[in-house]
Amino acid sequence: MFISLEGIEGCGKTTQLEYLSAFLDGTGRAYVVTREPGGTAIGEKIRSILLDPASRELVPKAELLLYMADRAQHIESLIRPRLAEGKIVVCDRYFDATVVYQGIARGLDAAFIRDIHRIILDDLKPDITLLLDLPPRIGLARAWQELNNGSRSDSESRFEEEAISFHEKVRAGYLELAGLEPERFEIIDATRPLDEVQADIRNVLSAVLDSL
Ligand code: TYD
Repeated sequence: MFISLEGIEGCGKTTQLEYLSAFLDGTGRAYVVTREPGGTAIGEKIRSILLDPASRELVPKAELLLYMADRAQHIESLIRPRLAEGKIVVCDRYFDATVVYQGIARGLDAAFIRDIHRIILDDLKPDITLLLDLPPRIGLARAWQELNNGSRSDSESRFEEEAISFHEKVRAGYLELAGLEPERFEIIDATRPLDEVQADIRNVLSAVLDSL
C-alpha cells in the first residue's frame, strides 16, 4: 500500500503526518514514512539544492530533472523495496507535486512530465493520495510563521518566496488532478480545526486498511 500526502505550503502536512504515523502505530501494521524531495541520503543532497533560496538561478527544466532524479533514487532504493516487503509506504509529496509545481505552476508541459514518469519511473503511482486543501493566503501565513519562529529553516524557503499567484496555481492544479482521478484522491478540507481534519484522515485510512 502506497499512500502520498499533498497540498500547498502550510497546509499542515507535517502535523498530519505525525498523526497518521501514530494512527498506523496503533494498527500494528508495518509502515515507513518518507518524503520528497529527500527520503534517501542522495535525495537529501538534491533537496538542499532544490529548496535553498540561493538556488534562484535554477531554471525550470533543471528543477524538473532534479525532482525526477530524486524520485528515481527514492523509488529504486526505498519505495519499491519497502512495498515488496509488504510495508505501507507513506510519502510526504510525490509525483503529483511535480505535475502541479513544475507543470501547471511553472508552465512546463505536463504531458512531457507524465511521459518521463512513465518511461523512467515505470509510472509508479500511489494507491491513495490525501490532498490537504486550503486557500494559499491561510497556508502561506502559516508557513511564514514557521519560518519566522525558527521551527523551519530559512534554508528551505525558496517556494514560500514565490508570489501568491504561483500558490493559487498550485492549489487549483491539485484540485484539477483530484478531479481527473477521484478514485485515488481524497480531498480533505484543511481549513477546519485539527481534530476534524484528523477524523477525516482516520476514516479514510480505516477504510483503505479494511480493504487490504
Ligand atoms: P515540502 O518539504 O513538502 O515543503 P513544505 O513542508 O513547505 O510543504 O516540499 C518541498 C517543496 O518542494 C515544496 O515547496 C513543493 C516542492 N516540490 C516541487 O516543486 N516538485 C516536486 O516534485 C516535489 C516533490 C516538491
